[in-house]
Amino acid sequence: QAFLKPIFNAAPPSSIKRHTKISVVGVGNVGMAIAQTILTQDLADELALIDTKPEKLRGEMLDLQHAAAFLPRTKIQASLENIVPPLAKYSPDCIILVVSNPVDVLTYVEWKLSGFPVNRVIGSGTNLDTSRFRFLIANHLDVNAQDVQAFIVGEHGDSSVALWSSVSIGGVPVLSFLKRQKIAYEVETLENIHKEVVQSAYEVISLKAHTSWAIGYSVASLDRAILRDQRRVHPVLVLAKGFHGIEDGEVFLSLPAQLGRNGVLGVTNMHLTNKEAGRLRESANTILEVQGQLKI
Ligand code: 2OP
Repeated sequence: QAFLKPIFNAAPPSSIKRHTKISVVGVGNVGMAIAQTILTQDLADELALIDTKPEKLRGEMLDLQHAAAFLPRTKIQASLENIVPPLAKYSPDCIILVVSNPVDVLTYVEWKLSGFPVNRVIGSGTNLDTSRFRFLIANHLDVNAQDVQAFIVGEHGDSSVALWSSVSIGGVPVLSFLKRQKIAYEVETLENIHKEVVQSAYEVISLKAHTSWAIGYSVASLDRAILRDQRRVHPVLVLAKGFHGIEDGEVFLSLPAQLGRNGVLGVTNMHLTNKEAGRLRESANTILEVQGQLKI
């Protein structure tokens, strides 16, 4: 006898229900931080962990499954796979979100390997750098990081570009405000914040050997935007051709992009100063140089 008894004349389950599934490829510190954030935030109906190490994989799957009584319901599975080409073959409609470093180059590589349309291959890029940036600005000015509108674009890491010209807090454009108040030293302090952003990952790695929690939340925010069709703007890796004077080569750069169920829906027409656009193009050249050495 079944545990649940159907009610009188119930219709069979609808065949048009939308089933959301996230596969996390790699169950190291970053993959597991992403997995656990996905679970606690109730982002998908199904979570598949994928890795080539069977024991670690099963251990992580069981450990998460054992938390079922404390979490929103998500089916958790585990499997072993050779990563990108089979993923593209068995899930031809999926969206690939690349997180591994060097993420700018690897997003390009996975785009090529998958053969997917460009709107369905996204890299986590500077979504994390931007969160660090907003946190540091917020901390400095004693405001809520969610009220800090700011973007870091370009390469994830050393050659990233802070778009100071468009930073605003609660509707107040920061640079023009400081100029009006003639607080020149404050501008310098703020510029140091970008240096701190670039140093952030190095510092965390030197202290705890890897970064994990912030990238977990960063990627979960992208998952939510995509799966729940939130149409939010995130700085993520998209094909940069045609934006801000980047015409040559196939290069993925982080730009403020609107994300939804169809992946990248568009890139915001953000105004960059000549200096910012110049730095962005330098960032593109740095990545293109690395890509030039690859054979794919
Ligand atoms: C991070 O920025 C290391 O890319 C990693 O946390």
